[in-house]
Amino acid sequence: MSDGLPATVDLSGRVSLVTGATGGMGRVVAAELAHLGSTVVVVSRTAHGGDALRTEIADRVGADRVEVLTADLAVQADVRRLAAGFAERHDALHLLVNNAGAHYRQRLLGPDGVELHLAVNHLAGFLLTNSLLEHLHAGARATSTPSRVVNLVSATMGDTRQLKILPRPRPVTLNPTDLSHPARLN
Ligand SMILES: NC(=O)c1ccc[n+]([C@@H]2O[C@H](COP(=O)([O-])OP(=O)(O)OC[C@H]3O[C@@H](n4cnc5c(N)ncnc54)[C@H](OP(=O)(O)O)[C@@H]3O)[C@@H](O)[C@H]2O)c1
Repeated sequence: MSDGLPATVDLSGRVSLVTGATGGMGRVVAAELAHLGSTVVVVSRTAHGGDALRTEIADRVGADRVEVLTADLAVQADVRRLAAGFAERHDALHLLVNNAGAHYRQRLLGPDGVELHLAVNHLAGFLLTNSLLEHLHAGARATSTPSRVVNLVSATMGDTRQLKILPRPRPVTLNPTDLSHPARLN
């Protein structure tokens, strides 16, 4: 975080939503946005993790601008619940950062029957963005400035070379049946 540096952008009155906020980059992004004045809704897998992050950012920023919502983004029902929880609190969203991501060392299916890289790294952000489209439009109308959606993914997702690490291949071996319904949203 840019401790001691002046804020160059004033995000007062704006609302941001950051997934994966308890992780490395999400933590920094959430703190920076709060530093710039935005209300920041952080998404954490656990209430405990989110509350700890809220306290940490409030201490660093000197203002309590963080709200916590919980969700397991591997579960589509949870993503929908997350969007509904956000809608209960806010009429508008100005910045959505789909930051959460994970790498798995073996092929795993989530509860919706979707391979977990697809579920967490791709479909969750797609579903969350679509579920909050009205709020993103409302944010743009309110400020006469386009709302933004930032998607973070790893370049390794586009690399199909198999690297043997510890000693499992990475990325995990794809099963073509996963790709027959790449956008399977229940
Ligand atoms: N670090 C890099 O060098 C790099 C490079 C290129 C792209 N990226 C991308 O940038 C993003 C952030 O990277 P990072 O290094 O900061 O990752 P990180 O430290 O591993 O943090 C990942 C975050 O995603 C959350 N997450 C994972 N699975 C989730 C699930 N099922 N439901 C809800 N949250 C979940 C984690 O929550 P928990 O805290 O509960 O685990 C954590 O907050 C990722 O999308 C990554 O692919 C990173």
